Amino acid sequence: MPNSTDKRFLKALNKEKLDRPPFWLMRQAGRYLPEYRQTRADAGSFLDLCYTPKLAEEVTLQPLRRYDMDAAILFADILLIPDALGQPLAYKEGEGPVLDPVRSAKELSSLSMDRLHDHLAPVYETVSRLSSSIPSHCSLIGFAGAPWTVATYMVEGRGSKDYANIKKWMYSDPAGFQQLMDILVVSTAEYLIHQIKAGAEAVQIFDTWAGVLPDVEFRRWVIEPTKRIVELIRKDYPDFPVIGFPKGVAGNLMEFVKETGVTGVSLDASAPLEWAKREIQPHVTVQGNLDPILLVAGGQAMVDRIHQILETFKDGSHIFNLGHGIIPQTPPENVGLLADTLKNWKAS
Ligand code: CP3
Repeated sequence: MPNSTDKRFLKALNKEKLDRPPFWLMRQAGRYLPEYRQTRADAGSFLDLCYTPKLAEEVTLQPLRRYDMDAAILFADILLIPDALGQPLAYKEGEGPVLDPVRSAKELSSLSMDRLHDHLAPVYETVSRLSSSIPSHCSLIGFAGAPWTVATYMVEGRGSKDYANIKKWMYSDPAGFQQLMDILVVSTAEYLIHQIKAGAEAVQIFDTWAGVLPDVEFRRWVIEPTKRIVELIRKDYPDFPVIGFPKGVAGNLMEFVKETGVTGVSLDASAPLEWAKREIQPHVTVQGNLDPILLVAGGQAMVDRIHQILETFKDGSHIFNLGHGIIPQTPPENVGLLADTLKNWKAS
C-alpha cells in the first residue's frame, strides 16, 4: 500500500499517526435520507437500483454531499452474489430479502458460476464511475458478504431467528455444506478482485451472523473462508487492505484477527472499548463502534460516547464507524452532529 497517499482512511489502514481518525458509516446510503428514498422510487425496485450504475453511483454520493465522510462505500447488497449464481431473489416491502432456499448438496446444481461476471458487470461499472466521481480526499470501499452470512440467507430463504435450517445442514452433512461454502469463497473472492480492478481502494467483508456459531464451527465456516478470500485477493494484490466484520463474536475475535490476515476489524457496539484497545488494536486497525441506536437518540449522550470512543483509541489506528448499519429511523441531523463532533475533535 502506498505511503504517499493523502487519504485519511487509507492512512489509518496503513497504521499512520493522525490528528483525528477518518470516519464513514455502515449503510451510510439508505432510507434515513429523503434523497435516497426519491432515487429508490425512481429506480422501481431495489435490485434495479443496485444494477443501474448511474443510480447506484448517485446514492453512493448522496451522504458525502451532506456529511463529507472520509470514505464512500459502493452501493450494492451482499445478496447480489446468490442472485448472480441464479438463485431467485426478491426484496419484499416490510419483509426484507426473500430467496428460494437451497438446503442440500443436491440442490446446488441449480447454481452456476458461468454468468457471475456478466451479471455483476454493472456493479463493477458503478465502482469505476465512483473512482473518478468521489472527492479526492475520499477513499472508495468495495464490499461483499462473507460466505457464512450469505449462506444463511441462501439456506434459510430469508432473515432467521435461530438459523435452524443452515445449522442442521452444516452439522449433519458438513462435506455437502462445504460445497456451498466453496462456491461462495471462489465467487466472493473473484467479485472483490473485480471491484479492486475497477478502482476499489479497500474492501470490507460483512459477516453479520458470525456470532451464532460455536467456536469449532466458527473456525471452519467463518475464519477459514475469510482467510481463503484474503489470500486469493493478496495473490493478485499483495498487502491489499481488507476489513473484516465478524459481528457478535466476543472472545473469538482475537483468533479471527490472527488467522485471517485482515488489515482492520470492525467492532460491533458490544465490544468492550478497553479490551479492544488492549487486545485487538496492537494487531490491526480497529473500526467502530457507536451503537446505531445512540445515533437515533442523538444529543449529549451520543456526543459523550463518541468522545469516549475517540479517546480510547487515540494512541493507535482507528476508523470511526457505527457498530452496525444506520437504521432507517435515524434523524439526518444526528448524522450531522456526529460528523461535526468528529471533525472538531483532535487527538491530544
Ligand atoms: O453501507 C452502505 O451504505 C452500502 C450498501 C449496503 C446495503 N446493504 C444496502 C441496502 C451494504 C454494505 C449492505 C450490506 C448487507 N445487506 C448486509 C450486511 C450488513 C448488515 O447490515 O448486517 C446484510 C445482512 C444485507 C442483506 C439485506 N439487504 C437485508 C437483510 C436487507 C433488508 C433489511 C434492510 O436493512 O432494509 C437488505 C436491503 C438493503 N440493502 C437496503 C439497503 C439500502 C434497503 C433496501 C430499500 O431501500 O428498501
